[in-house]
Amino acid sequence: MTALARKIVIDTATTEFATDAIAGLTAMPKRLSPKYFYDSAGSALFERITQLPEYYPTRREIGILNERAAEIAALVPTGTALIEFGSGSSTKTRIVLSTATSLAAYVPVDISAQFLHQQAIDLRREYPKLAVLPVAADFTKPFDLPGAVEAMPRVGFFPGSTIGNFEPHEAASFLRHAGRILGRGATFIVGVDLVKDTQVLNKAYNDAQGVTAKFNLNVLERMNRELGCKFNLASFEHHAFFNRERSCIEMHLASLKRQRIKVCGECIDFRAGETIHTENSYKYSIESFGALARGAGFTPVSVWTDPDGYFSVHALSLRDGRSTPTW
Ligand code: TRP
Repeated sequence: MTALARKIVIDTATTEFATDAIAGLTAMPKRLSPKYFYDSAGSALFERITQLPEYYPTRREIGILNERAAEIAALVPTGTALIEFGSGSSTKTRIVLSTATSLAAYVPVDISAQFLHQQAIDLRREYPKLAVLPVAADFTKPFDLPGAVEAMPRVGFFPGSTIGNFEPHEAASFLRHAGRILGRGATFIVGVDLVKDTQVLNKAYNDAQGVTAKFNLNVLERMNRELGCKFNLASFEHHAFFNRERSCIEMHLASLKRQRIKVCGECIDFRAGETIHTENSYKYSIESFGALARGAGFTPVSVWTDPDGYFSVHALSLRDGRSTPTW
């Protein structure tokens, strides 16, 4: 990339951030897209969240994948391409890659091209017999699979309960979209956090060390850094709670006082206690997620949980079944 091209890319990204920030903060109620959490500071904080004692999902899901690796591998036909939506550091995928030795290719799809290519180098070294074919793309939008996997059977992988960060109707559209990419006959392995005791849920998003609070507040710091705003972080508070009616954790930033902040020339007024809604994390039951998947054209074939039933890993099939895909 030339210096000019790089500058244009940076400027386009900043303009998009500014446009989204103004649109979200002038809306009622105020909101910001969770995608802005993940700058380098946010990604590092998120990594810390996954290691917190209160944040059970990562450990539970890794436990399930380890425990059920052989059963998952049995769903992978010889010569399969594993396609991961939002691969990040592929930590959980390595459990599958190490057990499902019948895999021929791994297609990590991630928006961060540079990180993706570094990860691909490491993976090729670790799995020399596997074709590692990264695709730099927004996994929520249509993208082309590498030509080399066209004729291969496909298994999709979507761990981390990222599906819970979509609104249920968006989760259904995402499943349908993933189904189109994976194609008829594919299997989709999806990690889904489950509804449980409110206290356990609330604690997972309100850790004692305040890392989740820092992660949430980092989006204000990012606006200060990148958009030249003057948010005083001490006048906002992390607010996360389980909304049982909607079956989701809502994450907000609450203004502790009445204040006015300029965002790219636009004056944004906050009432005392007014919040910016930053993220949702929907929790499903095994049945409610199964129903969502069926509605999107999949047939649930297996589901595994940890012994406490905190987290679930679903295997969904696009093989045949009653729910014929409509695309
Ligand atoms: N999808 C996971 C969850 O909702 C991870 C996650 C996304 C998360 N955004 C977060 C965890 C914000 C804590 C805070 O739990």
